[in-house]
Amino acid sequence: MSMQAASTQIASRAAAIVDEMKALEGPLLPILHEIQEEFGHVPAETLPIIAKVLNISNAEVHGVVTFYHDYRNHPAGRHVLKVCRAEACQSMGGDAIAAQISQALGIGFHETAKDNSVTLEPVYCLGLCACAPAAMLDGEVIGRLDADKIEEIVREVRS
Ligand code: FES
Repeated sequence: MSMQAASTQIASRAAAIVDEMKALEGPLLPILHEIQEEFGHVPAETLPIIAKVLNISNAEVHGVVTFYHDYRNHPAGRHVLKVCRAEACQSMGGDAIAAQISQALGIGFHETAKDNSVTLEPVYCLGLCACAPAAMLDGEVIGRLDADKIEEIVREVRS
């Protein structure tokens, strides 16, 4: 499929999603959620479509996408690793763990590895505070992160 055809397909699917959901109360967040579910991220070309139908500016939509950590403006890698950056995890050495993970993967938060193997994202509490520091790999929670578990995670995303 050509880039233009792909872009047209994204635009028409996004327009259908916006149309289905525009009557909801406070429709912007559910629409963005649905668009990310559909495409794995919020493609730039969908922002003006959303803005037009909801009668808000592109900048407002962009502001919301960048404000909420759950929305991605670029496609994710094959794996998504979310590392908890909230208080309980921080108090259990979460900063050092996050730095080790980032170093082991060779990427920072909000980045995707060059080989597209993994995207690293921060998350603010996974409800796993009793097992801090915590992370989530492809939807599976991992508690009590330590050097061994980090090694396991790195092996898994690179396999
Ligand atoms: S603060 Fe990290 S899981 Fe709750």
